[in-house]
Amino acid sequence: MPTDFPQSYRLTGVRKLTPTVKAFEFAHEFDFVPGQFIMVWVPGVDEIPISLSGPNQITVKKVGEATNALHSLKKGDYIGVRGPYGNGFSIPGHRVLLVGGGVGIAPMKALAQYGEKDFTSVIGAQDKTELFFRQYFPGLHMCTDDGSAGEKAFATVVAERLLKDRKFDAVAACGPEVMLKFLFQICEKANVPAYFSMERWMKCGIGVCGHCSVDPTGWRVCKEGPVADGTVLRNSEFFQYKRDQAGREVEL
Ligand code: FES
Repeated sequence: MPTDFPQSYRLTGVRKLTPTVKAFEFAHEFDFVPGQFIMVWVPGVDEIPISLSGPNQITVKKVGEATNALHSLKKGDYIGVRGPYGNGFSIPGHRVLLVGGGVGIAPMKALAQYGEKDFTSVIGAQDKTELFFRQYFPGLHMCTDDGSAGEKAFATVVAERLLKDRKFDAVAACGPEVMLKFLFQICEKANVPAYFSMERWMKCGIGVCGHCSVDPTGWRVCKEGPVADGTVLRNSEFFQYKRDQAGREVEL
């Protein structure tokens, strides 16, 4: 059962994984489905949704006020946590291609570690300094934009080649929405079901405020998602626009 009131957990470990990404371990293990997220209250700053990268672990990239504040915390400090929330990955079949781009590698690590499938993995980043968690991914293909580690290619290009060469039952992915847009087109062409972890602004995290509702169906990222399948991806605002914190449409 998720905890709906923030619980205060002590940080038991903080590790710098890349120049912009840190992993935080806290003193509580969640029974969770990979792909689920928790709402993390950074004392005095804000509450933000973050996917679990393990039962007691979140992995966070510095991108704004709350994540900058999180990065300043040390072992022994406290964070507030509610959750876990959302659907998580539920993938039919056995042979699954995992694709993680940028900090989207973090939730895919949880799936690789606990998903109990025959995984082949692609992880991609701008350069070698931003690749992390590579030890957790079976059948790993690494790529970077500048060729400083693995193949010099986008993750979508590597995924497309693998989908041509081998038979997969599904593709599971998390990463920048532009990457997911192209990956979804590749999955549709290859006729392989897609299960993508998606992001939108969240406030309540429990399906009440409507802030994360996706046009035109009102599918809520926090409640019915964050993992969307082809039906949702094909018939929604995803890959076209999103909304900012004030609810205004922003092109991708
Ligand atoms: S964040 Fe409130 S409904 Fe999703």
